[in-house]
Amino acid sequence: MKIRNIILGTVMLIAASCAPKNETERKVDELLSRMTLREKVGQMNQLSGGAWLVDQAARGEVGSILNCVDPSEINAVQKAAVEQSRLGIPILVSRDVIHGFRTIFPIPLGQAATFDPAIVEQGARISAIEATASGVRWTFSPMLDVARDPRWGRVAEGSGEDPYLDVQMGVAMVKGYQGADLSDPTAMAACIKHFVGYGAAEGGRDYNSTMISERSLRNTYFPAFKATAEAGAATLMTSFNEIDGIPSTGNRWLLKDVLRDEWGWDGMVVTDWNSAGEMIAHGFSRDLKHSAEQAINAGVDMDMMSYGFIQYVEELVKEGKVSEKEIDRAVRNILKLKFELGLFENPYVDETLSAKVDYAPEHLAAAKQAAVESAILLQNRNNVLPLDKARTILVTGPLADAPYEQMGTWAFDGQKEYTVTPLAALREEYDVIWEPGLEYSRDKDKSSFARVRAAASRADAAVVFVGEEAILSGEAHSLSDLNLQGAQSELIAEVAKAGKPVVVVVMAGRPLTIERDLANCDAMLYSFHPGTMGGPALADLIKGKAVPSGKLPMTFLRDAGQAPFYYNHNNTGRPCNGTETLLEDIPVAAGQTSLGCTSYYLDTGYGPLFPFGYGLSYSSFEYDKPVLEKNVLGCDDVLRVNFTLRNTGKYEATEVAQLYVQDLVGSVVRPVKELKRFQRVSLAPGESRTVTFELPVGELAFWNIDMKYLVEPGDFRLWVAGDSASGDAVEFVVE
Ligand code: GLC
Repeated sequence: MKIRNIILGTVMLIAASCAPKNETERKVDELLSRMTLREKVGQMNQLSGGAWLVDQAARGEVGSILNCVDPSEINAVQKAAVEQSRLGIPILVSRDVIHGFRTIFPIPLGQAATFDPAIVEQGARISAIEATASGVRWTFSPMLDVARDPRWGRVAEGSGEDPYLDVQMGVAMVKGYQGADLSDPTAMAACIKHFVGYGAAEGGRDYNSTMISERSLRNTYFPAFKATAEAGAATLMTSFNEIDGIPSTGNRWLLKDVLRDEWGWDGMVVTDWNSAGEMIAHGFSRDLKHSAEQAINAGVDMDMMSYGFIQYVEELVKEGKVSEKEIDRAVRNILKLKFELGLFENPYVDETLSAKVDYAPEHLAAAKQAAVESAILLQNRNNVLPLDKARTILVTGPLADAPYEQMGTWAFDGQKEYTVTPLAALREEYDVIWEPGLEYSRDKDKSSFARVRAAASRADAAVVFVGEEAILSGEAHSLSDLNLQGAQSELIAEVAKAGKPVVVVVMAGRPLTIERDLANCDAMLYSFHPGTMGGPALADLIKGKAVPSGKLPMTFLRDAGQAPFYYNHNNTGRPCNGTETLLEDIPVAAGQTSLGCTSYYLDTGYGPLFPFGYGLSYSSFEYDKPVLEKNVLGCDDVLRVNFTLRNTGKYEATEVAQLYVQDLVGSVVRPVKELKRFQRVSLAPGESRTVTFELPVGELAFWNIDMKYLVEPGDFRLWVAGDSASGDAVEFVVE
């Protein structure tokens, strides 16, 4: 299969190179033919900054800038490039627009919790409208790193642990950013990152080594990159990590054999920040010059901030270590993108535009809806929520009125002045007693706790906002302990002593270990940093104007020691079977025998706190057992699964119905479950609806023992449920 893929990809590339060149390719060839080697290398050089780069831009030594978002400053640098450099090649302006530009949406992990690709695409489109109005035409998003370890701070930026959800969200973002036509002035080139396997960092420690087999890459980590590449993603970013000793930025198999030859992708490859130069620290490059040689020969087109390309590539070409053919390949990819974005025709940004589009009411409304749908109801004892009868409530906790923290990580250009906090929004709905209790999430000062408890006793109910400051998740912010920081858990316990209904709202960048906090509250809403409009969204949910529909995009652990833990795991030869002996049950001086003989922990047992896909509603739903149109199918058939979903509660509500499949026996072991479809179904109280999932049998294919991508006939099971741990299995056979 691999050889066949390479042949196919090569044929595609040859065919493309022989095909009559389109208008853009002709323009690229013509411009390239006039460029000196120095000018070519200048295009491959990306630098962070604005006005201070004017002189280098005028010399044609900068192909792209990042981290400048001031329209006039961008125009100044652009003017130098377009009107002073010999060939007038415009500069590509880039920024990390990860979950909004000015209007900040929930962090990507929260957007994944919506299981709503449409709202994610809308958010990306709005992000592009606001960012391009400031002159940004390239974003370093979507981050597609499958992540199974919440100790890794960058789980905040991705779509969680499941490859299928990752694909749906990644494709939605690429479509939203790029729109229908890259030459549209509101189109922003997407950048699928970090290629590849960055989320598998050992120990959840950022930048750490990864050991991922080719089969795991192909079955778990590649799918979202392949799908977004096929969806037209314009660029790709290499990852910091090394896989089995090979840094991605120097990995020719990844960047040429797979990306170009197998997938036939013709976009532009940029390194991560100095990830070329970091190959020296990896021990893969002798020096910066060697790293530039390796990166270019591996297939990198543009160098973000190592300065290696601009300093050494001319020497490397003269020494024959890098061919000018490789340079031309890279520069073609860069120029093609600039032509496609229309930068040659329209290099400048209208400096009056951003004031007209930033924070537009419809943008804020979309951000609020995304925040509503991203919130996950984890517990609701005695149906305490919604607080629709309470009049006076205590609002407390360090995240109740934290406009900056609420935006979450990678929200550079969101302005906290526009954030509406839960405190502000709840004051519109209730008589609020406001007692912060703690000033920030790491605060250990309990001196005001007595006052908080007294205030709780005066209220009808208490709402405690806890979680993480924005800086505690994101890049280089790994944690070994996932409990609430500071005295937050004690604050919850203190409020509970007042004996009133207690609602806890967690705003965080990752799944925290909150089991002990669940014991001290009646209800818990989990809101992955909800962004600018998180306050009104949470107030509507607390009041009952909206009903929670979010589902967990990552497994929630009892203890960080369980990581990595994910639902789509292999079964092992000794799966947990409920007979396990737990720590407190071990007799003193127990004989030296195995206690459970299965794969579990003596102290935390086996299961997670909450499974992938889990989330409650104010209503309740019942699933009838799914009925298959056919139970025996061929590889070219479509599996049709019909099931009736009923809203058995008293609220109009939306359920995210999920379809999971298990391939019981394979030439390599297969996960115990894999998400293959999901659908948001809105039902009135008492309403039921028959829903159909259609799944081409071809989507059960995987990379097998022979490294062939195919469906292996055999027995399968499927489940339709509201999370990955529920539902009754239905058998089917593929012949
Ligand atoms: C960072 C991140 C990457 C980001 C880039 C530019 O180090 O790893 O995700 O896009 O640098 O800011």
